[in-house]
Amino acid sequence: MAKGGLDGVVVADTVMSMVDGEQGELVIRGLPVEELAAAGRLEDAVALLWDGDRSTAGRWVEELGRARVRMWPTLEGSPALRVADAAVALRAGLAPLEGATPIELVAAAGLLVAGWSRARAGKPPLAPRADLPHAADLVRLLRGEPDDARAQALGAYLCTVVDHGMNASTFAARVVASTGSDATSAVVAAVGALKGPLHGGAPGPVLDMLDAIGSPERAEPWIRSELAAGRRIMGMGHRIYRVRDPRVAVLERAIEGLGRAGVATERLALARAVERAAERILAEAHPERPLKANVEFATAVLLDAVGADRAAFTGLFAAGRVVGWLAHVAEQRETGRLIRPESRYVGPTAA
Ligand code: COA
Repeated sequence: MAKGGLDGVVVADTVMSMVDGEQGELVIRGLPVEELAAAGRLEDAVALLWDGDRSTAGRWVEELGRARVRMWPTLEGSPALRVADAAVALRAGLAPLEGATPIELVAAAGLLVAGWSRARAGKPPLAPRADLPHAADLVRLLRGEPDDARAQALGAYLCTVVDHGMNASTFAARVVASTGSDATSAVVAAVGALKGPLHGGAPGPVLDMLDAIGSPERAEPWIRSELAAGRRIMGMGHRIYRVRDPRVAVLERAIEGLGRAGVATERLALARAVERAAERILAEAHPERPLKANVEFATAVLLDAVGADRAAFTGLFAAGRVVGWLAHVAEQRETGRLIRPESRYVGPTAA
């Protein structure tokens, strides 16, 4: 029987990112993720992944700003802004953008999430500004006013999730690119893969879980009853990491920065208590398999403090990861072949 899951199968050589699951290390095109996230600017990640070093980041701030302004008239009235879920809004809003350039797709992803969030709150969408870095403008579009501390935190988040080895959505993007199809189609396929709860759909449910638990002493009975009911604990476990996801510490630092700027981040203490309880209980249930916190606990706390609606969390994940998807699309086109694995037929034989 094929196990499925392709664990341990190398499907591409890439220069984009290196994930060390045993040491808990993430390197983005030669740079530790901590360093990439420090400046809190998505454009640093665009420069690094698309050009190979960060020296072109200033030019990308201008290009991305202009792309937001250029894409806005197309997206402002999009019916995608009124669907129930931000990831669905992204899928629907990006799909018609045939022929969009990579930077226009990055711009459009951010605009769709921000516009969708405003519509959900019953507010009219705001027009983008060309002169701000992407994260700063997204915070302004989400909240109605600029906010430096939140812009820094959101920028750090977007950089932290920008690329992560051969994750399911990146693989989906590469499969589509390998057929010679266009970048928009690759990104739309990737959004579809990211949306699932085992990949990018977890941070909203993590926040629901923290709300349901409410206080640290209730964590243990709550987790035990979830496991007894056969449910997984969102935000715990990872296909690659056997130690704590290194992105958690980067996001915790960004959350602490928000706290110093006076933004309420009290959920961080609860999240840490729930993580400790979940780790202990999961170690009893699976002594053979270390199940540690993945990026979603800290993501939920950070994005909530930034002021994003929890239903927009997966959309914001996509707004960062889209930069990585597009880097892989270009790399696949340059160096890859048609991706076409095989299956083993186990159905009935012909009579
Ligand atoms: N809660 C409870 N049990 C978990 C678990 C979790 N979060 N994650 C894994 N397990 C258990 C599985 O039930 C399985 O147990 P079994 O062998 O008794 O059936 C065992 O650990 C191995 O899990 P497996 O499904 O092989 O792991 P995977 O590599 O396919 O899964 C994830 C990785 C991320 C999909 C998985 O850990 C998960 O579902 N986590 C919750 C969702 C989440 O946070 N997603 C965001 C990822 S960044």
